[in-house]
Amino acid sequence: MTLHHKPATIALSLTVNSVAHRLNVAPSARLSEVLRDHLGLTGTKIGCDAGDCGACTVSIDGQQACACLVPVAQAQGGLITTVEGLGQSELGQRLRESFAHHGAAQCGICTPGMLMAAMDVLATEPGPSRQQVMDALGGVLCRCTGYEKIVDAVVDAGRFPRSTASGNHLLPKENGSIGQRIPKLDGASRIDGSALFGADAAPAGALWLRAIRSPHARARFTLGDVDAWAKTRPGIARVFSAREVPGHNSFGVYPDLKDQPVLAEGHVRYRGEAILTVVGERAAVEGILVDELPITWIPEDPAVGIAAGLRADPPLHAFKPDNVLTRGLVERGDADAACASAAHTADGYYGTGFVEHAYIEPEAGYAIRRGDRMEVFACTQAPMMDRDEVARVLGLPVADVVILASACGGGFGGKLDVSVQPLVAVAAWHLPDTPIRCIYSRIESMASSTKRHPAEVWARASCDAKGHLVSFEMDADFNTGAYASWGPTVANRVPVHATGPYKVPHVRNRTRAIYTNETPAGAFRGFGIPQAAIAQESLYDTLAEKVGIDRLEFRLINAIRVGDSTPSGQVLQASAGLAECLERLRPGWNALLADADAFNARKTRQRRGVGIACMWYGIGNTSMSNPSTMRLTLDVAGKITFWNGAVDIGQGSTTVLGQIAADALGCPVGLLLSVIGDTDRTFDAGKTSASRQTFVSGKAAELAGKALRAEILRLTNAGSEARIHFGGALLRIEDNGREVTLDLAQLPELTDRQVLEGIGTFDPPTTPLDAKGQGAPYATYGFAAQVAALDVDLDLGTVKVNKVIAAHDVGRSINPMLVEGQIHGGIAQGLGLALMEEFIPGRTENLHDYLIPTFGDMPDIEIILVEAHEPLGPSGAKGIGEPALIPTAPAIFSAIRHAVGVIPRRAPLLPHRLWELMRPDPI
Ligand code: FES
Repeated sequence: MTLHHKPATIALSLTVNSVAHRLNVAPSARLSEVLRDHLGLTGTKIGCDAGDCGACTVSIDGQQACACLVPVAQAQGGLITTVEGLGQSELGQRLRESFAHHGAAQCGICTPGMLMAAMDVLATEPGPSRQQVMDALGGVLCRCTGYEKIVDAVVDAGRFPRSTASGNHLLPKENGSIGQRIPKLDGASRIDGSALFGADAAPAGALWLRAIRSPHARARFTLGDVDAWAKTRPGIARVFSAREVPGHNSFGVYPDLKDQPVLAEGHVRYRGEAILTVVGERAAVEGILVDELPITWIPEDPAVGIAAGLRADPPLHAFKPDNVLTRGLVERGDADAACASAAHTADGYYGTGFVEHAYIEPEAGYAIRRGDRMEVFACTQAPMMDRDEVARVLGLPVADVVILASACGGGFGGKLDVSVQPLVAVAAWHLPDTPIRCIYSRIESMASSTKRHPAEVWARASCDAKGHLVSFEMDADFNTGAYASWGPTVANRVPVHATGPYKVPHVRNRTRAIYTNETPAGAFRGFGIPQAAIAQESLYDTLAEKVGIDRLEFRLINAIRVGDSTPSGQVLQASAGLAECLERLRPGWNALLADADAFNARKTRQRRGVGIACMWYGIGNTSMSNPSTMRLTLDVAGKITFWNGAVDIGQGSTTVLGQIAADALGCPVGLLLSVIGDTDRTFDAGKTSASRQTFVSGKAAELAGKALRAEILRLTNAGSEARIHFGGALLRIEDNGREVTLDLAQLPELTDRQVLEGIGTFDPPTTPLDAKGQGAPYATYGFAAQVAALDVDLDLGTVKVNKVIAAHDVGRSINPMLVEGQIHGGIAQGLGLALMEEFIPGRTENLHDYLIPTFGDMPDIEIILVEAHEPLGPSGAKGIGEPALIPTAPAIFSAIRHAVGVIPRRAPLLPHRLWELMRPDPI
């Protein structure tokens, strides 16, 4: 590699976190880059590099500033504080503790920016109002929390008592038993900036990789002599194309459906598809103009949208001549006949667009070949799946690949598919002992990563004269984009759920996932059910209106309960808490309806509406084995290690599984040391998706804790009620008045100083679905109902959601604070789905044009937790990740309909769409 021409530098003095630095940097370098790359202060995060997300917010002379927008020369002479320096002031320390106490950091990628923006307001207003906090923090985006707990933490910071305990004061003081609202076990590293996300670490001497991507949605291409081109470019080491992929040039989440190339071969199927990777010095690879590469493009007409996908000829993939990736069906009874004789029917067409995950952390990581083994460090939701994909792409046994999961700055389903992993691994394979790192730009992340499937839905429902549901039918097409990703999961999950959580004797739900030349659609919090729920709940509002009964009562009389059959013929054995959710919503529902009546009687340009929607969600994989294995060990010194393969993407599984494991073992959760997401050292816990980790891995953690406890009791001949005192090499066991000890140093070593272990495995019992979709696809279901209250501006078509009351049956709330955080965040994303978010390839590929909810968009949220015990779950728990989002959009649409009398049928219901809907006659 020829060394790149070094740009001119200037000498600068910077004072950062009270430390003076002398630096030689390019005068155009931005402060964010200098902090991270020159000073190693990676607590300052880069989410967009354009001033849109605020993750890089730092303090300059006491004023918040986006470090990515500040040329470093402008910061000279200023006093700069980053998240790492926050603890130097008492106020900063209190703020950190308040964040931990309130659970204000989930994934933590936005947290440094939030903290620094908060210091701005707290410096002048020690007791700020909620509005002052929202104003001050309004430039920082969070995709996880729904903002409420962040506001709580900042409002509370000045009053927060500073801990006097020694050691890490951000860790929980409580024993952490199930049901306690303890701070997150991994919270401290999110709050002090020390957590290492995908972009925050790489071995010394790493080269940078950049993917070269297609500007066309469908095209043929030929490559010229890219190696000769590379030789002419200072700072470029290598260019890799499909021919350098040593194993299979394909990946995909299903073992038998690997339809996406790592690097396209002569043909691209969507805008943003990778065709080459360029490796070299950072400035050199970032400075490449795609047009200068020897690539000849022959654009073709792309199939855009579901209708075009169904017509596309030639098809996108030869193995699917009709472009239909997969079909799903659930059929029970005779829906046509039942509908024909029903007292009331309702039907309609509904649609949704692409929705972007918009996690604040772009995809990032590194790979290094060590001998004949490949090591990959990356942000992910599924390290074992990544391991298998990388091994296949490299042509290696899986044992020769290790995935080290970085801290994950949000996922929501979007980091279930590999991104940087195979790209850096292929390059690293050809450059042994040279680390190869890659950080997607924001635009690259949004252009190339999976999205929520756009859906076109027709549905029909019928009921008898008293409002009891008789039939339901749905035909739903999902745009799966250019590659399969999780399309089959969506197509198979939706028919099971499409009726919603109600007793419906006659059902026919059909789905298709259709290839198009658009961004691949994959998993996104709900796997298609949020789209279907918009249609189903709207039809039930229509039926309630026709029958003349209250919308909540309609849902209550139809609510599925224990002993009822689902549309797939599964009889619910336990834990069906929807009816209780609705009962407990009723007082709030009635009060909000009365308030809306009184408000609307004033006849202003605002109309107030109240809506309701329900949901159910099968926890875990659909009709597939879905196991998780957890391990707890004791070493010779009495150290307890929790070997946990479940990646925490911010939702709190590290804490929840820790609480479960510690409770089962009988020790304070603070004694656990966790090893997480290391495919060499942790067992397969399955992917972090489908709301499965609390239920599936939680049960495995409970079994592991019990197994280790049983082993200790066996060795000491103690009874099951004995109390074990941990904390050193000598365990003390109190058993029915006698005390015995166990000297761990005297036990034979299992591995690596570990002397005792407990292993737990749980695979939820399910059965396959037959040709009519009949079977028991899930071991348990989460249930919820949400009420939304909002105002519609009749002149502008704008909607302000004022309040959401969310009642969720979670089986058992292991940590109510974290459950609330999931519900807040789910409601925020549901609000975005309903009113704001629409990904359009080539047009909304940044966080300026793609709008997600901010502080000011969030309603007041009231949460009701229902605990319908699930006998299979750990202490009765189920899951909450996806259920939190699903009812929000249909509840908002129900409220809009109540307010202004029109039926929303397309999400997002942007102001101009609602405005047009309210004016059916063209002007
Ligand atoms: Fe804010 Fe994840 S906690 S983006």
